[in-house]
Amino acid sequence: MSRSAHPAGPRHADVLPEGHYSAPADDLNALDPKVWARTVGRDADGVVTVGGITVTQLAEEYGTPAYILDEADFRERARAWRTAFGADADVFYAGKAFLSRAVVRWLHEEGLNLDVCSGGELATALSAGMPAERIAFHGNNKSPEEIERAVRAGVGRIVLDSFQEIVRVAHVAESLGQRQRVQIRITVGVEAHTHEFIATAHEDQKFGIPLAGGQAAEAVRRALKLDGLEVIGIHSHIGSQIFDMSGFEVAAHRVVGLLKDIRDEHGVELPEIDLGGGLGIAYTSDDDPREPHEIAKALTEIVTRECEAARLATPRISVEPGRAIVGPTAFTLYEVGTIKPLDGLRTYVSVDGGMSDNIRTALYDAEYSVALVSRTSNAEPMLVRVVGKHCESGDIVVKDAFLPGDLAPGDLVAVPATGAYCRSMASNYNHVLRPPVVSVRDGAARVVVRRETEEDLLRLDVG
Ligand code: LLP
Repeated sequence: MSRSAHPAGPRHADVLPEGHYSAPADDLNALDPKVWARTVGRDADGVVTVGGITVTQLAEEYGTPAYILDEADFRERARAWRTAFGADADVFYAGKAFLSRAVVRWLHEEGLNLDVCSGGELATALSAGMPAERIAFHGNNKSPEEIERAVRAGVGRIVLDSFQEIVRVAHVAESLGQRQRVQIRITVGVEAHTHEFIATAHEDQKFGIPLAGGQAAEAVRRALKLDGLEVIGIHSHIGSQIFDMSGFEVAAHRVVGLLKDIRDEHGVELPEIDLGGGLGIAYTSDDDPREPHEIAKALTEIVTRECEAARLATPRISVEPGRAIVGPTAFTLYEVGTIKPLDGLRTYVSVDGGMSDNIRTALYDAEYSVALVSRTSNAEPMLVRVVGKHCESGDIVVKDAFLPGDLAPGDLVAVPATGAYCRSMASNYNHVLRPPVVSVRDGAARVVVRRETEEDLLRLDVG
């Protein structure tokens, strides 16, 4: 369809409907390095390339939709976190953001540890050769089987999330004749959001043991008495997609306050603290994330300062970035199917995936950007909403964005910054098949998670 076939679509800033968008970029062909994986560019013909391969080649070989993962970028970001925190701290990649065996191997090679939060993630980590002592096991309701598997495997730490779990893990470890290293996850009364934090007197969420009312202190008291547990530290995770360090500052202050109380009451200085993950990335050009070295410096300074004030030796710090490592390293490649201009509103561009490969827009009202990647175009910008193929009007991938007005069925578009919480939260809604994850590096592509097939679906449906 040529642009003239849908002339009614609003294109100019003075006729734009309400929405969450900035004015169209001066050049829609430009690819903002803030949101695209690092090896992304355009070749002489204007086709987008990543890892030295064109998206047209990738679409031809692997089909669409597909998550395209830039291995060099992933490794670079992982290494940057590792280097920024140095030898006196640990970086645990949060596997929930995206986990596959290839990723586990890259993390292992780059010297990172791994945070898992289910038996499935643990199995993936172990099967790809991550040494158990470099794995942290999380979750607010680990099953007895999961606990036993983790203890037997010898995971480096289990993060205890409730009073019941303190007893359960101690019991399993004792019955296996082991002493399990554990951290206790507390809720410090800080709820962090992008650019702000709200200090709440009472935590109203399912994770952790509240500091408020002395519950966290009581948890430590009980755990220290159990032979099956070696309490190595306190864990705090304050939220997601955070840009503002002030929430971490309050969290560190309160965690160190608890360490001090523990020292005063039990004469024990716990050697570790974990400040969780949650560091933000750029989903659109409006976001300005911090670099790992700035984050490491800020967190280390906060903890050191708080510990000096409390006359405690500075504990070993660990962090758990997921999104900040994998998020920017992948984009989702789609083919445009239909284009529907709605008078005075916007143009709906339907792609061959949708909420089954990216639930974040529907679930969190998340913002994404989109670009035409199979060619360049100098047509006028057209305000679009990129939607999927699901039977639901909330099936939106990109709420508001600009694409060239000559966009046509068969064009390839890509949504950047989909490395985190897209494949890992993908579903089979409408029996749509989950896309593959294709990694690219130095001119070579390989499937790291293959596309689901109808046989896969039917195998589970035992009739
Ligand atoms: N550590 C703990 C204990 C966590 O609960 C999480 C995320 C992380 C680390 C990693 O956070 P990250 O650095 O990736 O933000 N599905 C949501 C995000 C849920 C995060 C849950 N916990 C999303 O798509 O935004």
